[in-house]
Amino acid sequence: MTKFAPEVFSSHSLISDGQLHIGGAIATDIAAEHGTPLFVIDQADFDARALAWKGALESAFGSDAGTVYYAAKSFICKEVARWVARNGLGIDVCSGGELAVAKAAGFDMSQVELHGNNKSLDEIKSAISLGVGTIVMDSFQEIERVGLLAEELGKVQKVYLRITPGVDAHTHEAISTAHEDVKFGFSLASGAAWEAINEVRKHASLNLAGIHSHIGSQIFDSEGFEIAATKLIGLLARFRDEFGAELPELDLGGGYGIAYLAGEKSLDAHSVLADLAKVVKAQCAAAKISVPRISIEPGRAIVGPTTTTLYTVGTTKDVTLEDGKVRRYVSVDGGMSDNIRPSLYDADYMAIIANRTSTSAEVNTRIVGKHCETGDIVIRQISLASDVGPGDILAVPATGAYGRSMASNYNHITRPAVVAVLDGKTRVIVRRESTEDLLSLEL
Ligand code: LLP
Repeated sequence: MTKFAPEVFSSHSLISDGQLHIGGAIATDIAAEHGTPLFVIDQADFDARALAWKGALESAFGSDAGTVYYAAKSFICKEVARWVARNGLGIDVCSGGELAVAKAAGFDMSQVELHGNNKSLDEIKSAISLGVGTIVMDSFQEIERVGLLAEELGKVQKVYLRITPGVDAHTHEAISTAHEDVKFGFSLASGAAWEAINEVRKHASLNLAGIHSHIGSQIFDSEGFEIAATKLIGLLARFRDEFGAELPELDLGGGYGIAYLAGEKSLDAHSVLADLAKVVKAQCAAAKISVPRISIEPGRAIVGPTTTTLYTVGTTKDVTLEDGKVRRYVSVDGGMSDNIRPSLYDADYMAIIANRTSTSAEVNTRIVGKHCETGDIVIRQISLASDVGPGDILAVPATGAYGRSMASNYNHITRPAVVAVLDGKTRVIVRRESTEDLLSLEL
């Protein structure tokens, strides 16, 4: 159970002499130099995954494929935005803050897509002024707002409409987004989607280039993507029938699942997009419309597997359960403030001892954080060597997506640094927060 599992760790990770190595550096040395808890991101792995998704989209849809927008919400900082740019991907941002990071990194604004179900006027205004390529609209009020602001600024803004296709994606309810009862998008079934198309067409300042759907996150069953695509192509066909012109673009969102536990397998970019392309091409042929430029928005699938969190063990405790069995609690120096996913979504992770080999028998263990909360769990159940104790370094892989990006300061705990590792060299790309940083917010 605690064995190193290459399918879950970043590509350039291995165990040698009992030590975990990431990107050519020894995890224990990285922890000693930069402290723990720490996010260690394997830069070459990020590049490879970004390029794999871009290459897969191009091989599935040909030279006329659309854009792979990296979903910034999974994890963004200026350095990562520069990696995204270098690999020729676009960025999907969903707030003024994420947009500001892309801008600060010098990202080409025409390759930025702005999402959000409640964009503020300031966010819309700055997106239009900065020349953001596409704004994905999510409500009738927003169509008015974007239309009027673009007009005021003397621009014609390219927009998509986010459509709720009514698909039940097989994932956790909190991260499933395309069934009817959600806050996102215009419902296809209720007719809202069609009404939204008509509303957008009333604004000379809006250029409706296409439609969008995102069905959820951490999805393995490709059927959901295919059903959504089929329904959206139906809407594109209706548009052509009604207006005698075709919408040129279709954005099918993100959501591709990755491995978190030993034995699991991340979705393969080439095969999932090749399957999707077959469905898209067949549906377009049946509807007699040209295949639109297809864009996608993977976040987790690019950054998730690239990152490993390093923690230091502080205390251990044995608790006797009702059935007489013993559970070993191993407390680490982080927890729900750097990884909220186990508490929020019952997400499972694995861990290994990064600093040594242990031959001790394994015991039923729960890895917990240092927060004042029972639900502060990193790993609910794992078999871990019984001699794990203070000073050991635990490595939790696949924490790149929705880890640092959802981090909090609960209990006034400072958020960890993010260190990039490449060819054995480490570089801090987001520094560790200090207590002074937190106190400086108080007036
Ligand atoms: N596009 C849109 C419009 C989205 O809302 C999302 C994620 C993505 C793309 C990227 O999805 P991905 O490829 O990363 O699955 N915090 C949750 C995930 C929430 C996802 C929100 N939207 C988690 O930790 O599982």
